[in-house]
Amino acid sequence: MTLVDIPSAAPAGSAAGDPARLAAPKRVLMCRPEHFTVSYRINPWMHPTQPTDTARALRQWTDLRETYRRLGIDVELVAPRPGLPDMVYAANGGFVLDGVALGPRFRHVERASEAPAYMGWFAERGLRVVEPTSYNEGEGDYLLVGDTIFAGTGFRSDRASHAQLGRVFGREVVSLRLVDPRFYHLDTAFAVLDSAGGPRSVAYLPQAFDRASRRILADRFPDALTVSEADATVLGLNCFSDGRNVVVAAQATGFARDLAAAGYVAHPVDLSELLRGGGGVKCCTLELRW
Ligand code: ARG
Repeated sequence: MTLVDIPSAAPAGSAAGDPARLAAPKRVLMCRPEHFTVSYRINPWMHPTQPTDTARALRQWTDLRETYRRLGIDVELVAPRPGLPDMVYAANGGFVLDGVALGPRFRHVERASEAPAYMGWFAERGLRVVEPTSYNEGEGDYLLVGDTIFAGTGFRSDRASHAQLGRVFGREVVSLRLVDPRFYHLDTAFAVLDSAGGPRSVAYLPQAFDRASRRILADRFPDALTVSEADATVLGLNCFSDGRNVVVAAQATGFARDLAAAGYVAHPVDLSELLRGGGGVKCCTLELRW
């Protein structure tokens, strides 16, 4: 038998994470799922004939909020409004950067009244609110990596909204086209693990994108993590990271292993009730950068 040296510091790939991965301070906006249910169908995950359990959704959402608080992530709350069962998916409420909030314009009339609710919240906090000129579902389709905004289209946000995004924030915008209706928002198929960029800073499901977009992703992120269809269909990519800690669907076990191997610390949460509306961790989370 040969004896090998066991390194004393936690190596990359352990549950303790790579010490070089640092947690950045984060502040997010969330909305309690007080009125959550599935009463209409605007994505393939939603089955209005199947009963939902609002109390269970509330428990799971509270667990997510507590996980954020435990990790030192600041959580702000916007008041839920009756008759808006999808308002819990705060990521769609806008895109906030540099003290400016670009308001959303929802593709489906069922969610249209969420826009003034979110824009009112931003205005009350002193943010400059910009009216959207075309369909856009906020951070559901817009994700910042380094100084570049990756912007999804194909199902919800219009390509024209990407041009407005570039004008408003003065950043490079890279358009990506989604092709699988199960992954209808960019944040269901693409995850930002380190918003500063760098090695292994993103993860994605290649087959959720058209060929041109896949090429862009491979060029920009040659060492990205790619996930299995099994992990993607429990919305594993719909996770939220501070650059070190990744809050992720408990059911995405393969992805959690890959995250650990890349030096991140995975924090599993079960949002299975909210998955019935077609959303997960990231959908419930709008990052506030001001
Ligand atoms: N039922 C909602 C919809 O279809 C879910 C939104 C999920 N949000 C997200 N950021 N992916 O619009």
